[in-house]
Formats: sequence, C-alpha cells, structure tokens
Amino acid sequence: MTHWQRYPASWSKLVPPLRPDAQIVAKVKELIGPVTGPVLLLGVTPELAQAFENVLGVDKNKAMIDRTWPGDTETRKVLPADWLDLNEPKNHFAAAVGDGSLNAVSSLREVRLLFERVVDLLAPGGRFACRLYERPMQPFTQDQLLDLGSRRASLNFHAFKWQLAMHLAETCGAALPVVLIRERFNELFPDRDRLARDTGWPREIIDMIDIYRGSPTLYVFPSRQEFLNALPGGMSNVRFEPSGRYDLAECCPMLAFSKH
Ligand SMILES: C[S@@+](CC[C@H](N)C(=O)[O-])C[C@H]1O[C@@H](n2cnc3c(N)ncnc32)[C@H](O)[C@@H]1O
Repeated sequence: MTHWQRYPASWSKLVPPLRPDAQIVAKVKELIGPVTGPVLLLGVTPELAQAFENVLGVDKNKAMIDRTWPGDTETRKVLPADWLDLNEPKNHFAAAVGDGSLNAVSSLREVRLLFERVVDLLAPGGRFACRLYERPMQPFTQDQLLDLGSRRASLNFHAFKWQLAMHLAETCGAALPVVLIRERFNELFPDRDRLARDTGWPREIIDMIDIYRGSPTLYVFPSRQEFLNALPGGMSNVRFEPSGRYDLAECCPMLAFSKH
C-alpha cells in the first residue's frame, strides 16, 4: 500500500511545508495571473482546486481523491489518472499548477517527462506555477539533524522530516524511497518519547513518519541545478521565487514559466 492511501486520514494535521497555506496559494495565483481558460491541477490539493474558476484536478490515487477533493462542480472536475499518461488534448490548458507535484514522481527522468507533458498540454502563452521542494546547495548534515532533535525545536516536525529527506537525497541520489526516511529517522532517534520531550514536537505528529512504513513510493528531491537540467525547451520566463514565510520556506521556492 502506498502511503498516499494512508495519508488522507492525517491530512488535517499537515501544515507548511507539507501543505500550502494562504500565502502560498496567493503566490500561485499571482504567478499565474488572470486566467480565462481551463487550469490543470497536478494533484487534488483542495486549496488550489478552489483558487481557480475552471479546474481539472488529476491524481492517480483514489483514496486521495475520495478524501481530499472538494467535490466536482460544473467547472471543477477530478480525473483519476497518471500525469505522465494524460490523454487531454495538446495546447488545451490556460495554466497548470501544483504543490510539490514535481517531487511526487519517482526519478529525475520522470521530472523531465512531467515538464514535457505540461508543456505539451499548455496552450501557447499558458502559464505554469508549482511549489518545489529543492535540496539546498549547502547540504543538511547528520550532526545538524541530531542537534536539532536534541533541544527545543525551532521548526515544525514536517520541516525537520524534509531536512532529513534532503540530507538522505544528498547521499543516495535525488530519488528517495520514502521508507528510507523512516528507517534513518528510527536509527537517529530510537527514543521517540525523549525526542518529543526535548523538542516539544507532539508525539502523534512524530509518529506520522510511520505512514512511510512499507510504502513503495519514491520522492525526488532535486537541487536547483537538477531541476534546471530537467527543463525541456519551449518555455520562456523561467523563474524561481520565494513562496512565503514558514518553516523551511528557503527550500520551497515557486517555479514559474510560460509556454512559448
Ligand atoms: C501533489 S503531490 C504533493 C501534496 C501537496 N503538497 C498537497 O498539499 O496536496 C501529492 C499527490 O500527487 C499524486 N501523484 C503522485 N504521482 C502522481 C502521478 N504520476 N500521477 C498522478 N498523481 C500523482 C499522489 O497520489 C498525491 O495525491
């Protein structure tokens, strides 16, 4: 079972950087600008589904659709499908948006394939905006992680978990089986009660890392250069912009571009 099938039950406990807040949604809207045609949403992020008039949400995971999609309307529909196999007509969408979507595929090759698919599907002049999880130039070290976990926390547990994932991706390669995040966490922090006491992170939030147990899913945590290397031609005005102020926001830029 992939952890996406287990996530919906805990969805309400997620905060940035894992979920978008109002400032992130506002930034996506600002980058997309006024839009009159259909918007492709890569995933079922409800805040983004509700941010545009005419939206097609696409997600391959039925449990995520059932639990997080805000419901179909005349102009808002969801399609259970793989982004990489989408059959929608070329040059169709006025915009494409997502939140962490490029990190939810399984390899750098799939990041490139997803970019290519998006460029195909966008109408000329169509805009793209998606928040990224970007591995920093200066890697997070094991000593930093251990130090963070030994005193009153200065950032939330999800941001810490992403630092651990980015640390692992630095050594294992950008594509990372999520089971490894939990395994390394258990090695570094075998006593969760103590971790909760030292940091102030609620034990039930720490235990959310167990959602990765046995999951076959990979995440990809590319560096800025790896994202740039994956960009195909056919785009203009490619830019990376801050997405807001929240824990680990420095590793979560918005990527935006337009189709030629
Ligand atoms: C959009 S991403 C990141 C979650 C995001 N931060 C949020 O707040 O919704 C997560 C979603 O991507 C979906 N997903 C991952 N790879 C996919 C693919 N190749 N095709 C369709 N959906 C995919 C997963 O099922 C999951 O629901």
